[in-house]
Amino acid sequence: MKKTGILITLFVLSVLLTNCSNKSDEYIDPRGTDYAGSESCIQCHQVQYNMALQSSHFKATAPAISGNVLGDFDKGNHTFIYDKNTKLVMEKRNDSLYQVLYKNGKEVEAHRFEIVFGAKHAQTSVYWRDNNTYELPVSYYNSINNWATSPGFPADKPYFDRMVLKDCYSCHASNASSRNVNQNSAEKNFMSMDVEDIIDKKTIVYGIDCERCHGPAKKHVDFHLKNPNVKTANSITSIKTLNRQQKLDACALCHAGNDGMKIKSRFDFKPGNSLSEFYRETRSINDTAQFDVHGNQFRLMAQSKCFVNSDKMDCITCHNPHENASKNMASYSKICMSCHQGLKHDEKTLKIMPEKLMADNCVECHMPKKLSGAIKFQLSNSKQLSNYILRTHRIGIYPQDKK
Ligand code: HEC
Ligand code: HEC
Ligand code: HEC
Ligand code: HEC
Ligand code: HEC
Ligand code: HEC
Ligand code: HEC
Repeated sequence: MKKTGILITLFVLSVLLTNCSNKSDEYIDPRGTDYAGSESCIQCHQVQYNMALQSSHFKATAPAISGNVLGDFDKGNHTFIYDKNTKLVMEKRNDSLYQVLYKNGKEVEAHRFEIVFGAKHAQTSVYWRDNNTYELPVSYYNSINNWATSPGFPADKPYFDRMVLKDCYSCHASNASSRNVNQNSAEKNFMSMDVEDIIDKKTIVYGIDCERCHGPAKKHVDFHLKNPNVKTANSITSIKTLNRQQKLDACALCHAGNDGMKIKSRFDFKPGNSLSEFYRETRSINDTAQFDVHGNQFRLMAQSKCFVNSDKMDCITCHNPHENASKNMASYSKICMSCHQGLKHDEKTLKIMPEKLMADNCVECHMPKKLSGAIKFQLSNSKQLSNYILRTHRIGIYPQDKK
């Protein structure tokens, strides 16, 4: 009796629920019912949405459909030569893109571009194999407008076996759920947890979206849809009112390198959380520690006197979180000068550059471009490693200022 009662209730409920969702054509977010998805924000936050849609954050990962993939296919620079018998060719077949390996003119294997990572300086791609993603052996680099080895890959032989773990997605995507396949297996002890994880393709939310930074916002959306007259934000964390450390942590989550000991998944981070709940620091930020210009803006900035001796510098001081880094160096100089009014460079420095020009070029001298030690790549037919160059966030006085 009781059982049928429950069954009937469940049936009625499920009919009701399906009807509801059909009616509004409701979006279901892979992260769960607390999430509304970025498109639901458009109706009330068009400005932020339009900006963010164009940003590298939104493009940090994307399905590898044409339009999202950089580089030449079928013609132009589309071949990577390993040796006189072995080459890798970028090819378009029907609507898909492939890296195809040829030995002595014969096709040996072909792997499809499935997901792209990045678009600004470089783009690397992955293909699916047995429910996991693997990095394709060559990537595209904007600095050379060409294909070259994916970072850390050999230039003398093709390699297709580098698994791209969930960890990559935790900085480049808004969700990727995994299942542990060998839960009870003895192998577990010999392999790292990450390697045993398989990624559930359907759960990937590409790019760094609104709710990745702002936290789940379904309640916020529902509230404001029901109460259009309320103009103050409800059921959403206000990042503006967080303390400085919390604001910094919300960016440092993905911009402070990757050498901490992990305690919790980065995907679980919500604005207001403290990074120390997520990983234990293995390196201290003393001013002699060397941090790479790639992926570690936070710790480099944290070594600057500007950061240490002022109590207000954070990432938002110079960046609009919804936009890419500005290409206008003069606009940064204005921010520098807001703290450095009445600044006088000494005679020697002024001889290198007159004061008038200086006013637009603070960044050129005090945040110079540096080579990344973490990312290097090799061109086709080349023994030499090429460097990846980014601006340092360690604001300071550099010897090359004397150029
Ligand atoms: C039906 C309208 C509506 C929708 C849809 C909506 N919001 Fe809002 N949101 C508001 C209003 C009203 C405010 C308060 C005024 C303001 O800051 O614009 C607000 C404020 C915010 C704030 C600032 C909070 C603060 O106090 O600093 C954030 C962040 C935010 N919304 C995120 C989102 C996200 C993310 C989505 C989509 C998942 C979303 N909103 C969808 C109406 C909406
Ligand atoms: C979930 C991880 C994550 C979080 C959180 C995050 N970022 Fe990023 N950010 C990235 C990744 C990944 C890229 C590189 C995207 C690409 O180019 O593919 C990036 C790129 C950027 C860029 C360069 C964009 C460009 O094209 O010029 C800036 C600036 C930036 N982030 C600032 C911030 C700030 C400020 C915050 C905090 C409000 C923040 N990020 C939070 C992961 C994150
Ligand atoms: C990289 C992280 C990040 C992403 C992605 C992001 N935001 Fe924000 N957002 C912030 C931060 C940080 C602030 C606080 C800015 C400040 O303090 O000035 C903010 C502020 C806001 C505000 C308050 C008004 C304003 O502009 O300062 C709204 C509304 C908002 N975001 C909506 C959105 C929506 C909608 C999306 C997606 C289309 C989005 N945000 C994507 C980090 C992000
Ligand atoms: C701790 C966070 C983090 C992890 C983990 C991470 N990345 Fe990134 N990645 C970033 C940030 C931040 C940037 C952009 C700024 C920079 O280079 O400093 C970036 C840049 C990139 C770029 C260049 C993007 C562009 O638009 O120029 C590629 C490609 C990339 N990452 C791929 C990967 C892959 C593949 C993995 C896993 C092997 C990975 N990343 C792991 C944070 C991360
Ligand atoms: C939030 C305020 C603030 C901003 C913004 C700021 N600075 Fe600073 N900066 C400081 C403070 C405070 C010091 C330390 C002064 C001291 O100790 O006498 C400092 C120190 C410096 C120094 C001396 C560093 C050294 O190692 O001796 C340089 C150079 C400098 N800033 C350049 C810049 C440039 C360039 C920018 C813009 C890209 C900038 N600052 C933005 C506050 C700021
Ligand atoms: C004092 C100003 C300032 C502060 C503070 C600052 N940045 Fe930047 N950021 C810059 C400048 C200048 C660039 C270089 C833009 C360029 O060369 O196109 C930049 C570029 C970037 C890039 C793109 C790197 C590239 O070369 O494409 C990322 C990512 C970034 N910043 C993240 C952050 C994060 C995260 C924080 C906080 C930890 C932060 N920034 C704080 C000034 C600042
Ligand atoms: C041509 C390169 C160059 C440019 C452009 C430049 N600086 Fe400097 N800056 C230097 C050098 C070299 C020093 C150390 C010698 C000196 O004080 O002149 C210095 C010193 C400083 C100091 C430390 C002064 C002190 O007394 O400790 C600050 C702060 C500073 N610069 C800020 C700025 C700001 C802000 C801008 C942009 C308006 C700027 N600089 C533009 C090269 C430059």
